[in-house]
Amino acid sequence: MGGTVTVEINEKKVSVPFGTTILEACKENQVHIPTLCHHPDLCIAGACRVCVVDVEGMRTLQTACSFPITSPLKIKTSTPMVRKARRHIIDLLLSEHYGECYSCVRNNNCELQALAKEYGVDSFTFGHVDKPVFEIDKSSPSVIRDMNKCVLCKRCVRTCIDLQEVGVLEAIDRGGKTHIGTFYDKALADVICINCGQCINRCPTGALHANDPSDDIWAAIDDPKKHVVIQTAPSPRAAIGEEFGQAPGKSFTGELNTALRRIGFDKVFDTNFTADLTIMEEGTELLNRLKAAIVDKDESVKLPQFTSCSPGWVKYIEHFYPEYIDHLSTAKSPQQMFGAVIKTFYAQESGVNSEDIVTVALMPCSAKKFECNRPEMNDSGFKDVDYGLTTREMAKMIREAGINLPEMPKTHFDYPFGDASGAGLIFGATGGVMEAALRTAYELVTGREVPFENLRIEPCRGFQGVKQASVKLENCLEKFNFLEGVEFKFVVAHGTANAKIVMEMLKRGELNDVHFVEIMACPGGCIGGGGQPIPTSEVIRTARAKAIYEEEESLPIRKSHENPHVNYIYQKFLTEGPCGHLSHKLLHTHYTKRGKFIS
Ligand code: SF4
Ligand code: SF4
Ligand code: SF4
Ligand code: FES
Repeated sequence: MGGTVTVEINEKKVSVPFGTTILEACKENQVHIPTLCHHPDLCIAGACRVCVVDVEGMRTLQTACSFPITSPLKIKTSTPMVRKARRHIIDLLLSEHYGECYSCVRNNNCELQALAKEYGVDSFTFGHVDKPVFEIDKSSPSVIRDMNKCVLCKRCVRTCIDLQEVGVLEAIDRGGKTHIGTFYDKALADVICINCGQCINRCPTGALHANDPSDDIWAAIDDPKKHVVIQTAPSPRAAIGEEFGQAPGKSFTGELNTALRRIGFDKVFDTNFTADLTIMEEGTELLNRLKAAIVDKDESVKLPQFTSCSPGWVKYIEHFYPEYIDHLSTAKSPQQMFGAVIKTFYAQESGVNSEDIVTVALMPCSAKKFECNRPEMNDSGFKDVDYGLTTREMAKMIREAGINLPEMPKTHFDYPFGDASGAGLIFGATGGVMEAALRTAYELVTGREVPFENLRIEPCRGFQGVKQASVKLENCLEKFNFLEGVEFKFVVAHGTANAKIVMEMLKRGELNDVHFVEIMACPGGCIGGGGQPIPTSEVIRTARAKAIYEEEESLPIRKSHENPHVNYIYQKFLTEGPCGHLSHKLLHTHYTKRGKFIS
């Protein structure tokens, strides 16, 4: 059924599409309704009742977020009864909530705190817990769970089950004993959590937060013997302004470089440099696989090749589709390539002892914390990346140093890893790795630029869950004659629920002719990563992606293979070229088959 329905909201007549919820209708007409369990990325739960309104003719107050308008209604959103009910609900939530706002990671960005302020709940009518009931789960290198601050909104549960289709979290027990837990209430590190941090991004309180290494980083900065090097990924740069009150959609790359130097980092490098290196390694690996399959008729070659730069996706496949791990590119993520190169090539070139170097990675991601702690990530002879830091944690350090980021003058990255191509930059949005790989692979194979206007490979872009497209390889260079006439097919997906769709298609044999698959674990790709500023929504992620694409078009170099610093490292250090012996040792890795229920 379509059409519109006329309703009265606070005695004002408005027309809304049939089926619109009262909450949506009010928002559309600038009437604010408080919410807590509602989130724009998630299905409706109707669990908290904070959004109650008065609907004429109904015996009880109704939840605006879950009430679809299908007939004319008279709605009142701020009667004495409505206000009293909301106040009671907030008061009750606070009565079960243990936590001191001033020492909480979400202080000043907590929806419960904001509601208490909005409704003037400044005393506890129903009492207040004065000691913690739950032990804080600090087992995971990525996500800390403090259920003493949980308000049972189940946003994390819906995120983990519906949005990500991982299913680690669930409401356990009934009545007063209800709590959010894992399989058999095990520690998070012992279950199949992929560390994506999407539950953190949607938790309204401080019940979930990332495992913050900033105290250790401060200690390294303050230690004169340590040479502390930071790499920054593009997505945090496109989002960190939000932590300083800026509207989403503006990158603060140059300002951040200055702030990081003022904080005390010895060198500030661009992760996009190793994104370019990843394209060289991963692209070469793909061409090698294609040659082995087409020319050598090697049936053991696994195609399609999967991207491997999203550690949440890597852990997802290790748990849920372990029989497919050989499809993953062996190329490490840009973060890990950077660490390995810093503690070898950079140490050699700069004359700093590798053991004195501390490598920090500013990432949009909580899974990167798990990744840098994987036992195999020490090919430099040291821990390649010492600390993974999220955008939120970096903003906290910047504030602690007394710096207001937007006021900083712009400066460039340090050399030798200070220049990168636009291809490396667009890794931050879903489809970006595929677009970067195609720009390079197509040109290496045919000697010509990809046939897309201004290098914009539109089929890779946008937030459609699963995208499929192809590009025909014609007039190939002699070395790549075996690819002549091949319709190169690729698939791009973001969010592990969409990854599951792709994997099930693959299992059914529907993607047998596909050559390359890009998957990012987080909705929207890294711009929507689990370490990015809170809140998140598709509108916010779209603005961040726009900032990245705009910045990339302003760069002089937009293809990874044209980055002169990448060519320099292959001339000076990785002299056998991409996928050569030393590259294999430092820049490639292997994966682990894991359990489907526990880690
Ligand atoms: S979760 Fe919110 S209300 Fe609770 S202590 Fe933290 S800031 Fe305060
Ligand atoms: S980090 Fe991701 S996988 Fe782990 S509990 Fe949260 S949403 Fe689920
Ligand atoms: S942990 Fe956070 S998101 Fe999950 S139910 Fe509790 S308050 Fe809601
Ligand atoms: S926001 Fe409507 S019931 Fe929670």
